[in-house]
Amino acid sequence: MLFAINRSINLSAPIDEMRSRSRNDVGNKVTVVLGAQWGDEGKGKVVDLLATEADVVCRCQGGNNAGHTVVVDGKEYDFHLLPSGIINPKSISLIGNGVVIHLPGLFEEGDKNEKKGLKGWEKRLIVSDRAHLVFDFYQIVDSLQETERQAQEGKNIGTTKKGIGPAYSSKASRTGLRVCDLLGDFKDFSNRFKNIVQQYQSMYPSLTVDVEDQLKKLKEYAERLRPMVRDGVYYMYEALHGPPKKVLVEGANAALLDIDFGTYPFVTSSNCTVGGACTGLGIPPLNIGDVFGVAKAYTTRVGIGAFPTEQLNVIGELLQTRGHEVGVTTGRKRRCGWLDLVIVRYAHMINGFTAIALTKLDILDVLDEIKVGVAYKLNGKRIPHFPANMDVLHKVEVEYETFPGWKTDTSAARKWNDLPAKAQNYIRFIENHIGVPIKWVGVGKSRECMIQMF
Ligand code: GDP
Ligand code: IMO
Ligand code: MG
Repeated sequence: MLFAINRSINLSAPIDEMRSRSRNDVGNKVTVVLGAQWGDEGKGKVVDLLATEADVVCRCQGGNNAGHTVVVDGKEYDFHLLPSGIINPKSISLIGNGVVIHLPGLFEEGDKNEKKGLKGWEKRLIVSDRAHLVFDFYQIVDSLQETERQAQEGKNIGTTKKGIGPAYSSKASRTGLRVCDLLGDFKDFSNRFKNIVQQYQSMYPSLTVDVEDQLKKLKEYAERLRPMVRDGVYYMYEALHGPPKKVLVEGANAALLDIDFGTYPFVTSSNCTVGGACTGLGIPPLNIGDVFGVAKAYTTRVGIGAFPTEQLNVIGELLQTRGHEVGVTTGRKRRCGWLDLVIVRYAHMINGFTAIALTKLDILDVLDEIKVGVAYKLNGKRIPHFPANMDVLHKVEVEYETFPGWKTDTSAARKWNDLPAKAQNYIRFIENHIGVPIKWVGVGKSRECMIQMF
């Protein structure tokens, strides 16, 4: 028993009781929803489905580069910084320390949704005091960096220009400013703000910032934000160790956009895989329960970077138009291609999915045949891993499995038996190939268009 470590973190439990506790006795478990491709898989819809029963819905990383769509009672909402669970009047929404917050964007988003009928969101929102801030000028710097990349390398990343890269860079270089700084001594905050502006101006001489105007606005935002701010770590500790609570984490962006595991450098600047849930909320790994991966029945990507199953032909165009594949945040057309199971399996290696939500099956309804990428070959030989190097990823040859199309409208299907046999075969193949059960199949935009398999 020498190495038996007790993981329970009840801070007030007597030590003898702690010794006899089992490893599983760690408090409430958190359910995590993560993108398994390059984003826009339909995470918002899956979170909305689960949020109807959740007590707390959390964002743990990213910022308003995310665009999550939720359709309820025919009304479409898009969320960028607010957790999609904010729709549920009975649950609390939390923006964790790992998120980078653009305050004008946050309030604009809330006000816009309020006009659509979202009531009382400010009272249901909690913001971690450790979350970093995204300033307006970070968005300008984001654009300047894209221009610089284009000039130096002949290509850019195709960022959302929401200032995400500069905000996480400042965080990592320890000059960033956090919510707790904004709510603390404003004189000190102002000095540090001026220093960051100066640092960026020395890197980008064309950058102009009206410092006084920015500080005035930030001071106003600070007062609107103050009632929502909590110590995020302690809030989560209480949520996990009090009475039973359902806690949901809404991943933003996706595995292939993860700063460590994605198609670097054509990625975002945060960890969009499961580790981000722990570091972005301050919760122990043993509190992670179900990890649901969300994958589209085909693949899309916004922005630049390798995309082995991309279809630059009528198939790609059909997926783009039928799937309304247009970025929620930027309005850019999404690139489209066949489902790539190499990337979904790779996402599973990192995240350990306990089940998958397969979305947008209905978009494939009209196809004569459907292909699925099952392996990558390099110089004629299958490779067992997902390449780290983008030059290699550009060179891989995709091995496909071909399935006959079902040529039937699936949008009214509500249970497994309503689906045509050929669609069932397609789903079963995917499930077996990834080695993860598919728990939901999406056949339309709205809440009820989700077949629950078990
Ligand atoms: P997220 O970023 O992962 O939340 O996904 P987005 O909201 O950016 O993009 C997903 C799009 O697909 C949204 O427009 C959703 O309304 C839509 N959608 C989600 N699931 C389905 C589905 O099963 N069928 C169809 N037709 N649309 C879906
Ligand atoms: P959701 O949560 C799709 C992409 C951008 C760009 C790269 C870096 O809606 O799935 P950034 O602005 O983050 O520095 O851009 O990452 N990207 C997304 N693509 N869905 C997203 O979020 C994305 N978030 C970032 O297009 O290629
Ligand atoms: Mg999206």
